[in-house]
Amino acid sequence: MEANKGINRRRFLKATAAIGTALAVQPAIDQAKASHTTRHEESSSTLKNVDIPYRTLGTGQAAFHVSALGFGVMGMTYNRSQHPDKQACIRLLHEAVERGVTLFDTAIIYGPLTNENLAGEALAEFKGRINVTTKFGHEVINGKGTGRQDSRPATIRRYCEESLRRLRLDSLPLFYQHRADPNVPAEEVAQTIADLMKEGKVRHWGMCEVSADTIRRAHAVCPLTAIQSEYHLMHRLVEENGVLEVCRELGIGFVPYSPLNRGFLGGGINEYTVFDPHNDNRQTLPRFQPEAIRANMRIVNVLQQFGRTRGMTSAQVALGWLLQKAPWIVPIPGTTKRSHLEENLRTFDFSLTAEEWHELETAVSAIPVVGDRYNAEQERQVEG
Ligand SMILES: NC(=O)c1ccc[n+]([C@@H]2O[C@H](COP(=O)([O-])OP(=O)(O)OC[C@H]3O[C@@H](n4cnc5c(N)ncnc54)[C@H](OP(=O)(O)O)[C@@H]3O)[C@@H](O)[C@H]2O)c1
Repeated sequence: MEANKGINRRRFLKATAAIGTALAVQPAIDQAKASHTTRHEESSSTLKNVDIPYRTLGTGQAAFHVSALGFGVMGMTYNRSQHPDKQACIRLLHEAVERGVTLFDTAIIYGPLTNENLAGEALAEFKGRINVTTKFGHEVINGKGTGRQDSRPATIRRYCEESLRRLRLDSLPLFYQHRADPNVPAEEVAQTIADLMKEGKVRHWGMCEVSADTIRRAHAVCPLTAIQSEYHLMHRLVEENGVLEVCRELGIGFVPYSPLNRGFLGGGINEYTVFDPHNDNRQTLPRFQPEAIRANMRIVNVLQQFGRTRGMTSAQVALGWLLQKAPWIVPIPGTTKRSHLEENLRTFDFSLTAEEWHELETAVSAIPVVGDRYNAEQERQVEG
């Protein structure tokens, strides 16, 4: 067991050494082209010892160098029905580190608190070599979410201290505002983060589900590293509402959350799937009602058909499509399974042309998506 751990550590150190070298050679983000992604193109010769490529979110002082696929930790305790026990989750997170993943995503509201606690317990030992990003904004009182937003400066400061404690860190690699607070202007939030950065408590910051206008206002006060919003083949709003455009213009990275549409694009969900009534928000989402699932299976079929002749699974098609959109995009799929981790990381084994991706996009676009992504209450919390 101990010897095994030693081997794992040697492989991890080898990977992180290569990441350090890659930092020096990473090209400027705005010079990078938004063409199709291949392992060879992105992995310069300095990276040949690592399994996956790396990308940079943000520019200048806001630049944040991470694995090109992150790991969404949420489903290991929250909102994705049953999950393995804590030790199994820790083993899987360690496996992801060993495979070269350096970006792990959690939030205070996941659980609440249980997900940050898990990430802290599992990943604190890799402090400084991998990054656990977390999020503030949803009000949590006595370990329970209230459904309200609270991004007042004093609350952000308190949440920051509490997250540092749970994650067992001295500074947060990236702190996102989870949802905009209608009572606190973006400039005030940005200034609070700028102050926390000066104090060394936060290194980078980001915002989730905000409009292009909010991004501009916040970025002017404190440069943003990443915007994290929902983006996948069944939800392409950020292509239309100016968010991706403003990220490109200002050199801000983009982190698509739920890149497999909460597992749906992986093909393992059908109209008979039963979601845990106590721990799964999918049962409340219009798009996950049985009739919507039945109708939307046609989209999964297109991904499966497209993947079949290329040896790809539908999950790999979905992730590959996002990765080829721009070199400053870093999806964060979540999983509780070693086989899915492997499958997702193996997306980098495939190299498709722009024409092939266009063919996929055209075929998917021809099928109307049935059901909204959020219910009315959740939709109210996101900026258009
Ligand atoms: N900022 C925000 O507002 C926000 C909102 C939601 C999520 N997030 C972040 O985004 C992360 C990912 O989101 P998500 O969990 O909602 O959605 P997701 O990554 O699209 O899907 C996760 C689901 O897909 C399944 N899956 C993973 N790989 C698969 C594969 N290769 N084939 C088939 N199924 C596969 C997982 O099940 P198994 O466990 O069985 O693999 C899991 O239930 C979260 O962990 C969280 O960090 C952020």
